[in-house]
Amino acid sequence: MLLDVKNLSHSFDYPLFNNLDFTLEEKKSMAVTGVSGSGKSTLLHICSTLLRPKNGEVFINEKDIYKLPNDELVNIRRCNIGIIFQSHFLFKGFSARENIEIATILTKSDFDMELVERLGISHILNNKVGDISGGQQQRVSLARILLKKPKIIFADEPTGNLDAATAGEITALLFDYIKTNNAALFLVTHDLNLAKKCDAAYKLENLQLKSF
Ligand SMILES: Nc1ncnc2c1ncn2[C@@H]1O[C@H](COP(=O)(O)OP(=O)(O)O)[C@@H](O)[C@H]1O
Ligand SMILES: [Mg+2]
Repeated sequence: MLLDVKNLSHSFDYPLFNNLDFTLEEKKSMAVTGVSGSGKSTLLHICSTLLRPKNGEVFINEKDIYKLPNDELVNIRRCNIGIIFQSHFLFKGFSARENIEIATILTKSDFDMELVERLGISHILNNKVGDISGGQQQRVSLARILLKKPKIIFADEPTGNLDAATAGEITALLFDYIKTNNAALFLVTHDLNLAKKCDAAYKLENLQLKSF
């Protein structure tokens, strides 16, 4: 089991979810949909080491992550999981290649030219990221995340800023990645059709995750 969530509850100004239990296995994908403000991003942050829950446990690779010392938690975040946001955090004044190289240094990984070619960005490696398209920027961002071969990818509306065709290509790459790397995908999306392509599709509503 790559991800095992037990009895998870969280609230800010109001309760967001209560006693959630779910698991995610190798090669599997799950989608979380729900109205804005329902707590999807909060759930993703909690499952991906970024936010300690009010109640419950998150196990990644059998480790109860919020019971680990902080340096081990940071290590899991850096090396075992990949987190993709709607707006990527690339260094605008640097080239695509430099942005990818920074990630290889941080994660002690190698520059993966095969991955870069598969993502279709080998021809723009020397361009500044400010000068390439939104879809190409998201691919550079994906290269930075996938080169460390994460076991779980957490994606928070990763295609929200992209046109439909580019969005389809990016999600196809993610599905392909988890199958060929025995990894898993936790996807937050507004797109119900995309959600249904995942092995499990949930809606976060009335504090619970409901399958649909
Ligand atoms: N760090 C925070 N501090 C206080 N309230 C927060 C914080 N993060 C999110 N919230 C609130 O929690 C609710 C759910 O937010 P979020 O998880 O981002 O929902 P979603 O991703 O489904 O739109 C919102 O009301 C938001 O304002
Ligand atoms: Mg959100």
